[in-house]
Amino acid sequence: MHSQAHDVGAPTLLEALRTGTALLHVALEKRLPFFCERLDADWYGRLLQACYGFYQPMEAALDEGALIPDGFDQVLRVKTPTLVSDLHALGLDNPAINALPRCCALPPLDTPAACLGALYVLEGATLGGQVLRREMAQRLALDADNGGAFLNVYGAETGRRWKDFLDYLGRQPLDVCAKQRAVDAARSTFSCFEQWLDSQEVLL
Ligand code: HEM
Repeated sequence: MHSQAHDVGAPTLLEALRTGTALLHVALEKRLPFFCERLDADWYGRLLQACYGFYQPMEAALDEGALIPDGFDQVLRVKTPTLVSDLHALGLDNPAINALPRCCALPPLDTPAACLGALYVLEGATLGGQVLRREMAQRLALDADNGGAFLNVYGAETGRRWKDFLDYLGRQPLDVCAKQRAVDAARSTFSCFEQWLDSQEVLL
């Protein structure tokens, strides 16, 4: 039987995910307009609509696929409802939100490992949100009640939830092939998100 001892020296799942996605993170970060002087309320609103168009189908697919390994609290970590309340705060009603374009080119979520890779990206994005939240509060006076809640979706729980997620990842007994599937899915999540945002013309 394959024992974990044989993997001594092999990167952990987290290390593999970090190494595999670092450049994609930098590339996407550079193209997001949060620190751009031209970002105004209209552009921010379109960006949030585009985020909804990705997160809604992603979270629905993760939920419907039912392949997320046990121990991940989807109800606690779902982010689409926060996007919906931000869009309400920005003046969209439910019919307008339901009519928003949604991404069809999602990353593969057809194995438990692929789900873990995608979740790594969605959970990690809450960390950058902390930086963005402060910037948007200063520049566009956005807060949790007027359209800025998504950037601070976990609020004071952000650090704790990230640590809990890393503990959860660390408990997953993935072999080398499964780890590769997780990394592929994480990479694909970054690139699908970037391509989607690009198609919605909200990137720099
Ligand atoms: C301008 C936009 C962004 C900024 C400024 C930003 C910034 C950051 C920062 C500062 C961290 C590290 C936080 C820490 O170690 O405590 C981080 C981590 C991370 N971010 Fe971003 N981020 C941005 C956008 C995104 C987006 C759009 C995604 C994915 C959809 C993303 C995914 C991640 C992931 C997965 C991590 C975790 C890396 C790890 O420690 O393993 N980020 N980001």
